[in-house]
Amino acid sequence: MTKALCPGSFDPVTIGHVDIIERAADLFDELVVAVVSNPSKAPLFGVQERIELLEEAVGHLPNVEISAFDGLLVEFAASIGVSVIVKGLRAVSDFDYEIQMAQMNKQLSGIETFFLAASPVSSYLSSSLVKEVARFGGDVSSLVPQGVAKRLGEKFGAG
Ligand code: PNS
Repeated sequence: MTKALCPGSFDPVTIGHVDIIERAADLFDELVVAVVSNPSKAPLFGVQERIELLEEAVGHLPNVEISAFDGLLVEFAASIGVSVIVKGLRAVSDFDYEIQMAQMNKQLSGIETFFLAASPVSSYLSSSLVKEVARFGGDVSSLVPQGVAKRLGEKFGAG
């Protein structure tokens, strides 16, 4: 029984995240998607909102559970008995930071990180870009789950 952990800011969840979560849910018996409570950048969405939006987006996957954590990822992983982290890699620009985190996490606790290559249709996509487009009134409905598009519209006065 392999249980894996897919951590992230998810501020907000995009179709790129959903793609990675769906594919990881196919590969592992159980998948815990964990929202970091205090990301390094001030989030647009509160942690509860980010959890709700994820639940709406991936609620159709029976082996996926949404959770939140604070502090070190490796400590959270140990507390829930997970020994594998799954992350999506979009482009070479992700690689430097992701490999550093994977190696640091391995050094800290022995945990392994598996990388899934982002699907080409969403490899240009990021939560930051989605927020910028939405902030200036652009149409993000093809980039994020429906509930997220609605919530972004409300936040930026278009919904
Ligand atoms: O979606 P993101 O912003 O790429 O996710 C980054 C995340 C949440 C996985 C990373 O910032 C993290 O693990 N934060 C928890 C604190 C921690 O363990 N830091 C050391 C990482 S080596």
